[in-house]
Amino acid sequence: MGTVHVLDHPLIQHKLTHIRDKNTGTKDFRELVNEIAMLMAFEITRNLPLQETTIETPVQEAKANVLAGKKIGLIPILRAGLGMVDGMVRLIPAAKVGHVGLYRDPETLEPVEYYIKLPSDISERELIVLDPMLATGGSAADAIHSLKKRGAKQIRLVCIVAAPEGVERIKKEHPDVDIYLAALDEGLDDKAYIVPGLGDAGDRLFGTK
Ligand code: PRP
Ligand code: URA
Repeated sequence: MGTVHVLDHPLIQHKLTHIRDKNTGTKDFRELVNEIAMLMAFEITRNLPLQETTIETPVQEAKANVLAGKKIGLIPILRAGLGMVDGMVRLIPAAKVGHVGLYRDPETLEPVEYYIKLPSDISERELIVLDPMLATGGSAADAIHSLKKRGAKQIRLVCIVAAPEGVERIKKEHPDVDIYLAALDEGLDDKAYIVPGLGDAGDRLFGTK
């Protein structure tokens, strides 16, 4: 069964409070989402394998560790997931980036897929799906189904704010997927917005509405 990790690092929690604040404008919101993504990347890469190499320090020969070169793919769910890519890439510069375009139909709340473009070797990569919001879980669950249909074997989901309903849906439909969050909120309102949440992440990132 996939596990749920709430990353409660004080820097993440501080920045999260600012993006929840309705008075935070687009520029700051965008910067803070990237910074949170970078801090989350630090936490979720703890398990990356290392391999030993030999180097010469100015003093003597030494054995030291370097990354073993695990292949990673970042998969932002468009649009709002794009806001997390730069922060992640700063810490994982060799990652390839695939895109899944989905929007949530405001009437049915069902996700509608309109675009997909992935690295050709996704079955060999550890994929990290990015979306700031996990509300009903429909978008993330569908994106993960799409990736699995195309051969993905190892997937993790990274969201900034989640509702318990979304977490339960992912656990049910994708029990093999670990979930990483900055916050697990109270629930959903009658329009399936996360409460207390931070509003519409895509609109706040891109200044639309
Ligand atoms: C938002 C958000 C998630 C989805 C979450 O996207 O970025 O993808 O809603 O809701 P769910 O868990 O109930 O599916 P939205 O549909 O607003 O599209 P956008 O990113 O293009 O703004
Ligand atoms: N999508 C968002 O951007 N925000 C929510 O609260 C729910 C879905």
